Amino acid sequence: MQKKPIKIMDTLFRDASQSKIATRMKLEDMLPIAGKLDKVGYHSVEMWGGATFDSCIRYLNEDPWERIRELKKRMPNTKMQMVIRGQSLVGYRHYPDDVAVRFVEKAAENGIDIFRPFDALDDVRNLKTVIETVKRTGKAAEGTVCYTISPVHTTRLILDKARQLEDLGIDSFCLKDMAGLLDPYTASKIIKRLKKSLAVPIHLHTHDTCGMGAMTYLKAIEAGVDIIDTVLSPFSEGTCQPPTESLVMALKKTPYDTGLDLSLLADIADDVREMKKKYKAFETDLGGVDSKIMVTQIPGGVMSNMTAQLRQAKALHRLREILEEIPKVRKDLGYISLVTPTSQIIVVQATLNVLTGERYKVITKETRELLRGGYGETPGPVDPDLQRRALKGEHPIHCRPADLIPNQWDQLREELKGITESEEDILTYGLFPHVALEFFKRRPISSNQNPSV
Ligand code: CO
Repeated sequence: MQKKPIKIMDTLFRDASQSKIATRMKLEDMLPIAGKLDKVGYHSVEMWGGATFDSCIRYLNEDPWERIRELKKRMPNTKMQMVIRGQSLVGYRHYPDDVAVRFVEKAAENGIDIFRPFDALDDVRNLKTVIETVKRTGKAAEGTVCYTISPVHTTRLILDKARQLEDLGIDSFCLKDMAGLLDPYTASKIIKRLKKSLAVPIHLHTHDTCGMGAMTYLKAIEAGVDIIDTVLSPFSEGTCQPPTESLVMALKKTPYDTGLDLSLLADIADDVREMKKKYKAFETDLGGVDSKIMVTQIPGGVMSNMTAQLRQAKALHRLREILEEIPKVRKDLGYISLVTPTSQIIVVQATLNVLTGERYKVITKETRELLRGGYGETPGPVDPDLQRRALKGEHPIHCRPADLIPNQWDQLREELKGITESEEDILTYGLFPHVALEFFKRRPISSNQNPSV
């Protein structure tokens, strides 16, 4: 058999931080490790996007833009990858096109090499602006489809979306299994079909939440996948990715040999294990398999947040009812995936449906917006009665939601006059206005200068 080395993206600084320690990993703890990671020879290192941006300014008093520049200095030989929530960028709502364009341009300028845009509804129109801008900057766009299980989510649907993304000019395609629900044999079937119909490399992202991660990767590798996402062992398994070292060892001396140096990985893993000790207070899972997720499909992060909030509201005894309500709400809302921000929409609505004693007695602003089409087209049809009730005579929209959002850049710049002129700061403010203003006041002096590069 011809040699086909499997490429690996390491997720330590982004997904691992988000999935294991509530996105609290600080730059100062990344920097000593970054130099060593740079020597490994990864396909890329995921180090930005998702919840990291929000966490930087909300909890860590760190400038998210500085993080890219500092890591780039330590990792000049490794491609830096980010995950981006389509038109929601690194936030929770759709932003205007001019903000999206500038955000991507600035991220590229500061050092991001590969962008992985996904959309919670897998509405390809919501990825268009980001993908086109990435292409214009000369960086790589990795078009993404989220994997979930529902009566409307077929392999055909994944293939259709993937082809639409290929038409937009993506450089690679990622199947994103955020909840770890993709089983090995289904992975094999889907990857084979993707390999047949796409010309670009295929990247698979899974989590070990249901304990299938490494098995799923192995079957996907045999089916022709090109790139997989793993993390060094101290952060691996449970709600995070399978361990890099195990995959490297399993593939040794096969046509899929990654070529990565196990003793170097073991050495870095020692440093990572030490570093992780600082974050004990934020550890979000016990590291093992969560079989509840196999049944409920609710991602680990969502589950732990939900139980914490119910405990606070002294309503933890209603958890079972809420878990039963979640799939029903999901069906009413067109079988949307449980991924940011739709996971939050479903969970909050299901909780209200149970705690108020009547389904949809209270309809949240976000549920209404989803039923209005404000997040895009849902994978399946929404419940028409519920839609009518929520919209109270208003008509749902069918266009790309951002087509209706007026440009905002000039206004944002105007609002920050006298506070900052940095375009990075204007973007931070445009994304999270309230948190950003607080952050500008208390951030360290060093990052309080115009960081434009
Ligand atoms: Co993930």
